[in-house]
Amino acid sequence: MPTADATAAEYVAARPKSAAAHQRAKGYFAADGATHFTRAAVPFRPYITHAAGPRKWDLDGHEYLDCVMGHGALVLGHAHPAVSAAIAAQVPKGAHYGDNHELEIAWAEGIRGHMPTAERIEYCASGMEATQLGLRLARVFTGRKRVLRFAACYHGWSDEVTAPGSAGAIAEYVKVIPAGNPDLVSQELASGEYACVLIEGGGARVSGRSPIAPDFYRALPAICAKAGTVFMLDEVVTGFREAAGGWQSVLGIRPDLTTIGKAASGGLPSGILLGRADIFASLHPASPPDRLVVHGGTWNAVPITCAAGIAACETYRGGEPQRRAAEGAARLRSLANAAFRQRGLAARVYGRSIVHIYLGPVERDDPNNDQPPTLELAKLFDKSAAKRYGRLDLHMLSRGVATLRGEAFIFSSVHTDQDVDRTAAALVESVAAVAADGLL
Ligand SMILES: Cc1ncc(COP(=O)(O)O)c(C=O)c1O
Repeated sequence: MPTADATAAEYVAARPKSAAAHQRAKGYFAADGATHFTRAAVPFRPYITHAAGPRKWDLDGHEYLDCVMGHGALVLGHAHPAVSAAIAAQVPKGAHYGDNHELEIAWAEGIRGHMPTAERIEYCASGMEATQLGLRLARVFTGRKRVLRFAACYHGWSDEVTAPGSAGAIAEYVKVIPAGNPDLVSQELASGEYACVLIEGGGARVSGRSPIAPDFYRALPAICAKAGTVFMLDEVVTGFREAAGGWQSVLGIRPDLTTIGKAASGGLPSGILLGRADIFASLHPASPPDRLVVHGGTWNAVPITCAAGIAACETYRGGEPQRRAAEGAARLRSLANAAFRQRGLAARVYGRSIVHIYLGPVERDDPNNDQPPTLELAKLFDKSAAKRYGRLDLHMLSRGVATLRGEAFIFSSVHTDQDVDRTAAALVESVAAVAADGLL
């Protein structure tokens, strides 16, 4: 078994072009050359030249099975034929009209077809923007300021939705409590001060690194309605991924507001707020000045994004892509956990179409492979374990599989059983290698 340093040295030696690109990038991008916090890695992540289906390739010619899938956006895989054709057909017709066009209406029709709670729809450039817009509308609608959020849920990086206490962020009206206890929410809302309750769909962090009980979600709409508080469900990851109708369709709940993005636009940049017409009313230009919410955004409803979104929404009809992604993920969980158990490795994977991994002592071994081996948030999000996951990521990349920071494996409808089997084999070997590195 190579030593830890030998692993990194071999990885770098096999990727001279990516190494050179990383050196160039460091001169521009302050996050150690990375353009997103999840793309910073030791020694570096590969520089990708192209992608197709479930695969991508780097500057040095290495092929990777991709389990990052555009940060979850690519339920249909890379360069899906219908989405690519829609984009290609739109490009020569112009990138930006700076004006109204029918594609934005057709996309809205596609979205509402999947999510009937979309009485009104507002396009943004990112999921985080959509969430911020939702908070503003909730405040105007209720005449209140405070926002209730839940531990470990991720909604983006802006002041009020980033992790509590983040350097430089101001969030004086935001309170974060643990998820799971409806009584605690009722107690908070009894103050009558809350404009909005915001929670991530599918569980906390990338659709459930820390699971949240379905019944907790089911309790929230009524608790919020009783308190006159707007209930906003963040489905930026789960929208069109968990099911064609998102997490709300899986649980049978009706949020007042919902944010989507990622899969909604087939992999092009987007964020969308949708929900109750009465809450959206303050966007109308005839609203009185003290209720008027002005929503700009150069990239709202860009025709190319709309064209991709329309094609994606069409492809999601019937829910087959989502079913297929879930099947592949279930296969990985079952294969990998069986091998971890057999080899006595302190690791378990769990989740749904996004598979999470926990590296550490198994406190509870779920035979269904969908629950984590500990329920303690401090362990699931243990910052001191970051090196362990980073090493796993490196070992996986060395074996030709790209993961989200060694923490999650994001599946698509085009990962075949063979792809999953290869991923599972690489994962088990990589966890064994992390253990051999002395990190597990
Ligand atoms: C649950 C959730 N909400 C919101 C966001 C923010 O979306 P965006 O990165 O498009 O701003 C993300 C991004 O990963 C997310 O995972």
